Formats: sequence, C-alpha cells, structure tokens
Amino acid sequence: MSNPASPPAVGVLDEGPELTFPPGFLWGAATAAYQIEGAATEGGRTPSIWDTFSHTEGRTVAGHTGDVACDHYHRMSDDVRLMADLGLKSYRFSVSWSRVQPGGTGPANPEGLDFYRRLVDELLAHDIVPWLTLYHWDLPQPLEDAGGWPARDTAGRFADYAQLVADALGDRVQHFTTFNEPWCSAFLGYGSGVHAPGRSDRADAVRAGHHLMLGHGLAVQALRAARPQAQLGITVNLYPVTPSTDSPEDAEAARRIDGLANRFFLDPVLRGAYPADLQADLRQVTDFGHVRDGDLAVISTPLDMVGINYYSRYVVAAPAERQEQERYWRAPTCWPGSEDVRFVKRGVPVTDMDWEIDAPGLVETLERVHRDYTDLPLYVTENGSAFVDAVIDGRVDDSDRLAYFDAHLRAAHAAISAGVPLKGYFAWSLLDNFEWAWGYTKRFGMVYVDYDSQARIPKSSASWYAEVIRRNGLAA
Ligand code: NOJ
Repeated sequence: MSNPASPPAVGVLDEGPELTFPPGFLWGAATAAYQIEGAATEGGRTPSIWDTFSHTEGRTVAGHTGDVACDHYHRMSDDVRLMADLGLKSYRFSVSWSRVQPGGTGPANPEGLDFYRRLVDELLAHDIVPWLTLYHWDLPQPLEDAGGWPARDTAGRFADYAQLVADALGDRVQHFTTFNEPWCSAFLGYGSGVHAPGRSDRADAVRAGHHLMLGHGLAVQALRAARPQAQLGITVNLYPVTPSTDSPEDAEAARRIDGLANRFFLDPVLRGAYPADLQADLRQVTDFGHVRDGDLAVISTPLDMVGINYYSRYVVAAPAERQEQERYWRAPTCWPGSEDVRFVKRGVPVTDMDWEIDAPGLVETLERVHRDYTDLPLYVTENGSAFVDAVIDGRVDDSDRLAYFDAHLRAAHAAISAGVPLKGYFAWSLLDNFEWAWGYTKRFGMVYVDYDSQARIPKSSASWYAEVIRRNGLAA
C-alpha cells in the first residue's frame, strides 16, 4: 500500500506533458527463473547454488527459499495470459541451467527444455517477443563444487550450455542475453557473500568477474555461429556514482567505486580492456594472473545490443576517521580494495529496499553508455521498485511504485530525446517474487502474488502500465 505520509519521490513529476515513444518501442516486463518458477525438484531439475544457499540456515530472511516461489512452472499459461492482458510486447525471462542441463555438464534434459519451448510458444501465440536470459545467478551446484566462477573452466561450461539452449530454442527465440548483472554474481556471490554461493574472498570475486565475462564472450561466439540472425547482448547493472562534495578526496572515492561498479564490466565488454586505474586500484587484491592472452578479444566479441538495469545512484565520500553513522553506511566487502569508501545517504525518498529514488540518474546512465561506449541499441532490461503493498477490498493501490515507473519512463524519454538509441524498457517485475536474500519480504511486482493461495492480483501500476503500452507513451 502506498504510504500517504511519504514525501513525493525524487524526480517524480506530478503533472508532466504527454510523451510519446518511438514507434516499435519494446514494452516489456521481466522475471528470473529462480525467483518465480518453484518446482525446484521437478522435471529432472537438480540444485543450483541458490537452492543450496537458501537452504542454508541464516542466509535468507526467515529461511525463505525458491522451492515454490510463484509456482510459475505450473501456472505458466495463466501467467502468459496475464502478460497478454497487460499488452506486453515482450517478456524477459531466464532459463534455469539446472533444469535444462542438470549438473551443468553433459546432455540436455528434454523435460526441462520442453518447459521453455512451451513458454516460448505461448508467448509467440500471444504476439509477445520472448527475451531469453541464459544466466540469472543460478549456477548448477556441481559447477560450484568444481570451483564456481573463480575457476576458468566454468566459462567453457557456460558456452556449452549456451550452445545447447541455442540448438533447442534458437528456432523461436531471436533475443538472447548472456548474463544478468554479472557484478552481483561476482561481488555479492564471492566478495561479500550475501548472495549464493556465499563465499567471501576478494581475489575470487575479481576472478569470478573475469570468468563471467569470458563465459559471456565464448557464449556470444557459440550463439552467433549457431544462430547468425539472433540479437545478442548482455545485461549490466549500472549506477551513476557521484562524489558527496567537490573535494578531491570524494572525487577519488567516486572514481574507485565507479571503476568497480560500472567500468569493471563496460570496459572489457565494449572496449576490450580493463581500465588502467581500476587495475592499479586492485593491485593489492590480485595480480590479474588469471587474465590470459586473448581473453579480452573474446570478451569484447561484437554484440547487437546492451541491456542496462537501473535502480538508483551511489553518492560516495572518502574514508574518514570520524563517521556520522546515521548518514553513511560503510561499503561492505563487495568493493575489493575500496572497502573504506563511505556510501552517503542523502535523506531523499527511498524504496522499501532503502535505495534512493533518482530518476535523473537513468538519463545520466543511458547517455554515458551511449556517449562513452557504444552506438549499439540500448534496452532498459530492468527498472522498478519494492514498496510495502496491502490488499484492501481485493485491490492493491501501489501509487508509490506507479510514481517510480512514471518518473523513470519520463527519464527514458528524455534520454531518447537527447539522442540515445533506447529501444525498449522492461519493468521489474511482472510478479512479486523471491527477492534473493530478502526472500518474499520485498515486493517488486506489478502483479501482487498471494503466496498462500498463489492468486495473482494486478496492482494499480499494472493497469497504468497497460495504458502506457496501449498509448505507446505517457498521458499528460
Ligand atoms: C536486479 C536483479 O536482476 C533481480 O533479480 C532483482 O530481483 C532486482 N534487481 C531487484 O533487486
């Protein structure tokens, strides 16, 4: 439920002009396999690192797991009908590697592939473009046992899996994303350990980041060979990083965090090189001995599009002896070598994740990628917000979430007007779902999920979004 006492969100326009998006703009919504499918032990699926992690005491809020989630595995047809009712032009979903290639090596599991074939066929029957993400954080557990992403071999296993999916689904899927948010897999999975597999080793996190990108490049090559007509890309999560003051020390803190959060992935993938300053910053963590000749050429294999997930901005300050605790949170151990940088809370409105709402940051992010990195088509592959929702008289009035979408769509439009080739936008998320370490305690959906009955209740943001899609723009 929206909180009437909460102040207006930053960047939200109460009344704005009517805005129309370019013809063919791809309006979508996104989900991910482990967050919605459930059926964790059905159809030949074997455990991924998220099954193991969520079943380990103390790892997720209240011990929540994805065992059942939104039961999408059994309710897929109804969920596609929901998408059609919203008028979605595209649906971004991920394939569970453990479902289609149990254990992460060896032959395909026909039953697992069949689920995704049926999903794609349902989508196509409703004129919804399937947008397939190969990896949304759920590494098959045996590959983690063999070393996980810090091990080079995992990159090759991923390319084999990509080939398997292309062979099975490439006749009906045109849009493939290799990885979703590799930063999270590397730095939350192996750095801070707040995500699966829950390891905490700074050098491993950096190695994982490299091997994720190597897997990306190898997979793009495999997909390109198998499906020359397909549109191939990657999804990165990006943040504008702003110094708290104009002091040189804060600028230095911002440079370091920007290197780790954004340029760590953008530069190798889109320029074929690690930034020199980032490598220098990381010298105390790793000697980069894991990077072999030729890796960066593979990593920068040409793409057809770039996906950007945008949620918030980071405002950072230099390390200081005296900390005003209430205004700062220390950078946790997902910032190798820069753990002492302080993240500043500005006191502006936040979502239920405590993430600052900053729609102008989306314009900055899109413009930066276009200006500094690439002419390729860009897609916002995720954008959205968690708020506390309540069902009252069978309805969910999520005006906070609606305002968040509205502000960010105005930002997306401003970026297009400024010349950014933004071709589509995917709301996160279609459904409330398993929000990783937060379990089911954070709701991002446009559609409310009652986890007891599995009933779906479209929130007011869903009907609003349907109208946006219908008009191909925003009303005044
Ligand atoms: C990014 C991730 O891709 C998605 O899985 C997650 O639920 C949202 N952000 C919200 O945290």
